[in-house]
Amino acid sequence: MRVGVLTGGGDCPGLNAVIRAVVRKGETRFGDELVGFADGWRGVVEDRVLPLDVERCRGILPRGGTILGTSRTNPYKIDGGAEAARATLERRQIDALVTIGGEDTLGVANRLGAEGVNVVGVPKTIDNDLSATEVTFGFHTAVQIATDAIDRLHTTAESHDRVIVCEVMGRHAGWIATYAGIAGGAAEIIVPEEPFDIETVCRKLQERHAKGRYASIVVVAEGARPREGTMSVTSGEVDQFGHQRLGGIGNQLAEEIERRTGFESRVTILGHVQRGGTPTAFDRVLATRFGIAAIDAVHDGDFGKMVALRAGEIVRVPLAEAVTELKTVDPALFHEVAEIFF
Ligand code: F6P
Repeated sequence: MRVGVLTGGGDCPGLNAVIRAVVRKGETRFGDELVGFADGWRGVVEDRVLPLDVERCRGILPRGGTILGTSRTNPYKIDGGAEAARATLERRQIDALVTIGGEDTLGVANRLGAEGVNVVGVPKTIDNDLSATEVTFGFHTAVQIATDAIDRLHTTAESHDRVIVCEVMGRHAGWIATYAGIAGGAAEIIVPEEPFDIETVCRKLQERHAKGRYASIVVVAEGARPREGTMSVTSGEVDQFGHQRLGGIGNQLAEEIERRTGFESRVTILGHVQRGGTPTAFDRVLATRFGIAAIDAVHDGDFGKMVALRAGEIVRVPLAEAVTELKTVDPALFHEVAEIFF
């Protein structure tokens, strides 16, 4: 078979491990010819391909990013984009397309699948907000990076008796904030799922600091928002999938905490550091399992599916189901575990 592979959306540690697994099993076990599309859906629309074989995949397992490149291109937002994508796949005689991405990239795969393209999806996002799978690869790495950073912030915050606000990624869901906040011993964790009350945040910090010299780390997800009318916030540009560019709530929160409490405050925005670099062993294994499962699904002719992790097993779920519901932070984890330490 001629099998296309693409990676779309924000990059994510473990993408190369998926590509390597698809290629290794596809080429050596099934005798496939693999075709890499450059820069996500953009490469399919523009008919740009990259060589992809076992040789090309040597040494990429521990490397972050994606050897295929990625983009947030949505063919359905480009005039004639979806037609151009289908034409490329036909011209290149692609029998099946392994699409590695988050809800947006997989949403496009789902639409093209409904229009007759043979697609298999692999879930990817450091945000861990895809409901059809228990966990996405990249999340574990991002949490580890954020936890390491919080550990470092503790010692400098303690030395200066400061509040340090650490802003982590998480557009709609606060999984990274919650996990890294629990693992790093945060005094407060603020997530997009529940608008925060700045007064309560400051009161809790004051109670904590009243006990003595007591520096605090406040972990905030970039998508967190204050309760309506309690604090002014700014917003950024919007991409082809309608998502706003985030990053800024940490600064606004640190300023507000300092203004209201008088505690000297600083902010650290971890940003893309969370997405760069080598994946953890957990993510390498999960990504490898997903890649193997994806090429198996291709050869079973089981299209329109996404591979997913459920109860430790790799299963296949309909792509349509995979892109409909956002997985937000488990309230029990937040309120019964994380909050005990606030
Ligand atoms: O891929 C998800 C994500 O990392 C979000 O957490 C974040 O809001 C967004 O991507 C950032 O996107 P970009 O790299 O395009 O700025």
